[in-house]
Amino acid sequence: MPEGRTLVTGALGCLGAWTLKALLDLGEEPVGYDLGSDYARLQLVLTADERGRVTLVEGDVTDAAAVGAALDEHGVTNVVHLAALQVPFVRADPERGARVNVHGTVVVLEAVKARLNRIRGLAYASSTAVYNASDSSPAPESGGTEPSTLYGVFKLANEGTARVYWMDDDVASIGIRPYVVYGPGRDQGLTSGPSVAMAAAARGDGSTIAYGGTAQYDYAPDVGRAFALAARAASEGAHVSNFPGVPATMREVVDAIEAAAPTVAGKVFWEEGQLPFPEALEGRHLERLIGPMTPTSLADGVRATIDHFRRTA
Ligand SMILES: NC(=O)c1ccc[n+]([C@@H]2O[C@H](COP(=O)([O-])OP(=O)(O)OC[C@H]3O[C@@H](n4cnc5c(N)ncnc54)[C@H](O)[C@@H]3O)[C@@H](O)[C@H]2O)c1
Repeated sequence: MPEGRTLVTGALGCLGAWTLKALLDLGEEPVGYDLGSDYARLQLVLTADERGRVTLVEGDVTDAAAVGAALDEHGVTNVVHLAALQVPFVRADPERGARVNVHGTVVVLEAVKARLNRIRGLAYASSTAVYNASDSSPAPESGGTEPSTLYGVFKLANEGTARVYWMDDDVASIGIRPYVVYGPGRDQGLTSGPSVAMAAAARGDGSTIAYGGTAQYDYAPDVGRAFALAARAASEGAHVSNFPGVPATMREVVDAIEAAAPTVAGKVFWEEGQLPFPEALEGRHLERLIGPMTPTSLADGVRATIDHFRRTA
């Protein structure tokens, strides 16, 4: 039996699937917790054999009794909390956004606090959305105080909540702020356009991405691995760190897509318009917490994503 057992909330999402994959690669038999009706991303990311080693629990992260029961029934020792509504869904329903993104995080922190004798570490997803476009670039990791979306405000609240749970209750945590996550399974949210374009390119189709400018690109398998390791590394303090991704212009992203799928050359377009975040972020802290990381280059990540879509079509 592996030494620890990590529960991942939001396990059926893009990063949930890649975090489960990283945990499986580390030899664990992880537990996934999600509202639970759409298994498409797990089927895309995990082999049938790997899916057989994951225990899935259907539940709402705002349901404290259900979260607690999942932690106890499966002897969970570490938690990765990813369940959240992304920017467009929070914008469409702010009350539900607050319930899932803010209350849901308090539920997870309370559940961990009640089980400190067994649960050794918590990692959770914050976001680059804690920054706004007027923050300097590269944005210092200590910054990010005036988000321009409710989603970002809720993520910032989570960081503050985790800080207080460490001060008052000894709940140690690492919050990671990804920027544009791309890769297989990234199919919804404000910045899903490049991954959707990669899926189209694998089919030989062109597409139009709904934003432009410069941003940082985080390959989903790298981010999943960081969350898996962070849940093990969170033994003291309430840390927050940016994900050290690869800065790129949209021209460079599209060039990488067209290089990996030459049949769509000249058929991938984008709209002008910078995302409401700084172009680049400082990202030095995470390696100090979880050990050396080598972010996948944009060319390699895009090629691997398109190959993955072709293989699984
Ligand atoms: N994808 C990105 O570029 C990005 C960037 C920064 C931060 N993040 C954060 O990373 C985390 C994971 O992102 P993702 O791309 O995998 O998102 P996703 O939208 O693909 O997946 C989110 C998952 O959460 C689940 N969920 C939603 N409400 C729930 C509830 N009440 N109870 C249980 N599960 C619930 C959904 O069913 C879904 O499977 C989120 O917290 C997100 O805000 C993502």
